[in-house]
Amino acid sequence: MDAGLPIAVFDSGMGGVSVLRALRAHLPHENYLYFGDSANAPYGVRPYDEILELSRAAVAHLVGEGIKALVIGCNTVTSVAAKTLRAEHPNLIIVATEPAVKPAALARPGGTILVMATDATVHGDNFLSLVQRYGDEVNIVKCPCPGLMEFVERGETDSEALRVYLRKRFEVLGGVKPDSVVLGCTHYPFISGAIRAVLGEDVALFDPAPGIARQAKRRLAAAGLLNPQAGEGEIRWENSSPDPKMIALGKRLLVRH
Ligand code: DGL
Repeated sequence: MDAGLPIAVFDSGMGGVSVLRALRAHLPHENYLYFGDSANAPYGVRPYDEILELSRAAVAHLVGEGIKALVIGCNTVTSVAAKTLRAEHPNLIIVATEPAVKPAALARPGGTILVMATDATVHGDNFLSLVQRYGDEVNIVKCPCPGLMEFVERGETDSEALRVYLRKRFEVLGGVKPDSVVLGCTHYPFISGAIRAVLGEDVALFDPAPGIARQAKRRLAAAGLLNPQAGEGEIRWENSSPDPKMIALGKRLLVRH
């Protein structure tokens, strides 16, 4: 396989850019193909069979483009479809995303961890097994956030309306201040400022993206597929929505801190 082929990063929309950002920091010489399925987003409120079919179609398209690896930059797709995608593409390196409950639990034993994610993710089997594994060590509070990714998709990463939305969602805490927030949807790192503004600047936020990037690097190195080129790699952007605003948003989010 040609090591110069791109690594595909796939999300239901532009949230996977938070993963792309970490990949670029760890693997700057790689070429990337970012695919956001914004025309069909959000995925997180859809029935599982629809999420599965949309994911299979997107990945079949990406494989057809010629890629050397797939990074699923979406907790929802991972939760519903990663198993099937791995079975259908046994020779493809696939790196997936799951809520960073483990590092959050290890960092604050006995603490309260708020897990923000889509409905599909918090009700999925993967999340259930994370709760079973770490639920005795920490107090895990589930916080499904339907409607939240849409703020990011329209470029609204902080606003009074967003803070009102968050305050409402955080009522699940029953007044308890969490020690940590697990950002269980790849759109949410882009609203970190608003989350901190509502919960307090001292709350620890856990974004899985750096761990995913390290894992991608290990997998590519083990397969001898790291791109040997010296300069910075390229990013090709694709989106199922014909609206050019989506790709422009992706480029803006990529350079945001
Ligand atoms: N970015 C996606 C995730 O990580 C989900 C957004 C959606 O509902 O489509 O779960």
